[in-house]
Amino acid sequence: GPELFGDRPNSMGWDIEHAQTLSTVEHDRNVWRAHQWHAAPLLAGAPAPETAIDVANPALPGDIPGTVSFASPADVETALSAATPWAADRATRAAVLNRAADLFEANYGELFALTSREAAKSLPDAIAELREAVDFLRYYAANAPEAAPVGTFTCISPWNFPLAIFTGQVSAALASGNAVLAKPAEQTPLIAFRAVQLMHEAGVPATALQLLPGAGDVGAALTSDARVGGAAFTGSTETALKIRSAMAKHMAPGAPLIAETGGLNAMIVDSTALPEQAVQAVIESAFQSAGQRCSALRCLYVQEDIAPNLQKMLIGAMNTLTVGNPWDISTDVGPVIDEEAQSGIQTYIDAARAEGRVLHQLDTPSEGTFAQPTLLRVGSIKEMEREIFGPVLHLATFKSGELDQVIADINATGYGLTFGLQTRIDDRVQHVTEAVHAGNIYVNRNQIGAIVGSQPFGGEGLSGTGPKAGGPNYLTRFTARPAPAQAA
Ligand code: NAD
Ligand code: ALA
Repeated sequence: GPELFGDRPNSMGWDIEHAQTLSTVEHDRNVWRAHQWHAAPLLAGAPAPETAIDVANPALPGDIPGTVSFASPADVETALSAATPWAADRATRAAVLNRAADLFEANYGELFALTSREAAKSLPDAIAELREAVDFLRYYAANAPEAAPVGTFTCISPWNFPLAIFTGQVSAALASGNAVLAKPAEQTPLIAFRAVQLMHEAGVPATALQLLPGAGDVGAALTSDARVGGAAFTGSTETALKIRSAMAKHMAPGAPLIAETGGLNAMIVDSTALPEQAVQAVIESAFQSAGQRCSALRCLYVQEDIAPNLQKMLIGAMNTLTVGNPWDISTDVGPVIDEEAQSGIQTYIDAARAEGRVLHQLDTPSEGTFAQPTLLRVGSIKEMEREIFGPVLHLATFKSGELDQVIADINATGYGLTFGLQTRIDDRVQHVTEAVHAGNIYVNRNQIGAIVGSQPFGGEGLSGTGPKAGGPNYLTRFTARPAPAQAA
């Protein structure tokens, strides 16, 4: 509402205001169809000499959206010594972040082209991603505290929301007055580079926001230095655990780590559910963004008596999906991010095929790093050891009377990010949503696409530390806590 976003609408109002029709949006994106960008460290000091490498388009091997120079150890040192918390008062910080949101909106055509070509986002996904980034900027601007910043904050982000999550972390740390060292995913440096340029243009000082493109070694260097006061990380649980160890060893005791990580997300569909609604929710949750969402549905539990019918409907719905280049407006499922992801998913599916567990599979284009959208049979979520980050859905069944065992098995994974429930029994909604341990629970709808300000997003257990992003408590971890009283 207006109290959260000032006089601006939140995400839903955006396209009406700035682009009247989808064809206008398509046209404005098309202007950037063959453009080449270059990303390099953005430092408040002299960068080391550059060696540029090509950035790939996962959907189209011949298309090179640009080049990137990764930060060297000397660049990391330059950034660490130049970093200076943003001294501006609360109102100034908020005004600058709102101006950055305006610039993001004004440059939508370029940002859509970049997210489509560098991260293989479909146009609807690219639109949702820009809306979310703009919402983060405005939400954290509206909630910017007076309180003291931690100091220097490292922000490390994944490739799957290269604009929204990158901007969310950075704007939260800046809203609180920290100096930010931003390390985007190695697969998507171009989008991050443009986002930082636009934030600088809006008035964020160069010493308060520096960009260090690079792989995990750059992230590791930025989370093992005593000059860094805290870190925000979104990515795999495995990397979060490494960062926690590095911080414990090298940084001040109690330095905050805000980690948002992976999940083994389930949905339960009981025999009272509306089948069409359930199937639509399952298809969106499992296959939108080619399943490359931390929130995506991985394990679907269907009550046994409706399972044959629901499986048939699900396969029918899968067959209507168009798999292809996300630049085409008719594409529903694009490629996965790179060859490493593709071959990992393929190996997993091959093992399931050898066990006779493939229920259905779609074909993909031969060029580009596509993974086949696949439905696999599984006895229980207990058989799924890790998150498969792609368009792979597991189907399990349960008998009436086994619901509590299913919930116990879901909780026993140790993850707790999203969960979905499809039922028409009110008491069951109450019971199941209280019993399942998950950060974001959705009833009778899909389980992806949390909206900033209305649906704070984050998990528990192995899925994250909290506080939830886009919620009222998130900024508290970016500000210094008062010193504890001295013991007598
Ligand atoms: P990843 O952990 O491989 O990489 C994430 C970031 O960490 C990248 O920038 C990477 O360069 C950096 N990194 C790698 N090693 C590092 C180290 N030792 N020290 C510091 N930084 C290091 O994850 P990914 O493959 O890019 O992203 C996919 C994962 O992210 C999935 O597990 C997904 O569930 C998770 N994710 C979670 C959320 C959430 O909000 N919970 C959102 C999106 C993605
Ligand atoms: N916030 C993203 C979603 O809810 C990950 O799908």
